[in-house]
Amino acid sequence: MKALQINSISSDQTMQIAKTLAKYLSVGDTIILTGELGAGKTKFTEGFLSYFNLQNEISSPTFNIVNEYNTNTVNIYHFDVYRLSDIDEFYAIGGEEYFDKGICLIEWGELIEDALPLEYIKIFFNKDTTQEDTRLLDIKAFGKKYEIILDNLKEELI
Ligand SMILES: Nc1ncnc2c1ncn2[C@@H]1O[C@H](COP(=O)(O)OP(=O)(O)OP(=O)(O)O)[C@@H](O)[C@H]1O
Ligand SMILES: [Mg+2]
Repeated sequence: MKALQINSISSDQTMQIAKTLAKYLSVGDTIILTGELGAGKTKFTEGFLSYFNLQNEISSPTFNIVNEYNTNTVNIYHFDVYRLSDIDEFYAIGGEEYFDKGICLIEWGELIEDALPLEYIKIFFNKDTTQEDTRLLDIKAFGKKYEIILDNLKEELI
């Protein structure tokens, strides 16, 4: 496992980090977004989607658990599994079937850990107690493919 810590001092910077990551990903890739309410998981997804010119279309997948975005090259599935009562509910909506079909971004993905693919990128969003717009992003790569992506990201952002 490789890790990279980046301090983001604005929601724009978080979106920019997401946009930079987006260009390295393709069908079958999974990103887990974790961190407390209001930490920036949806903001990150908004930035990610902006790479595909989908910046004005984001809404939180609160009621439907997953929102689907189609582009010419790839489908993007944005999950928020916070309101699932358990992992069986994730299986019941056919959640696992999305992993191979496009790029999956999963808010609160740690709640469905056993259903996740073996390899993924996991991003922890940590709020700063003293600075309102600051977040520490702790990005962890599980799997060789994602470790290489993380190296590229490091070169580009740091
Ligand atoms: N550095 C930053 N990165 C991301 N968001 C920031 C930052 N600074 C301030 N914000 C603000 O924090 C809020 C983050 O909200 P967001 O909906 O992305 O959180 P979330 O993690 O998805 O929460 P939830 O668990 O409720 O879905 C936004 O209003 C955003 O503008
Ligand atoms: Mg959210």
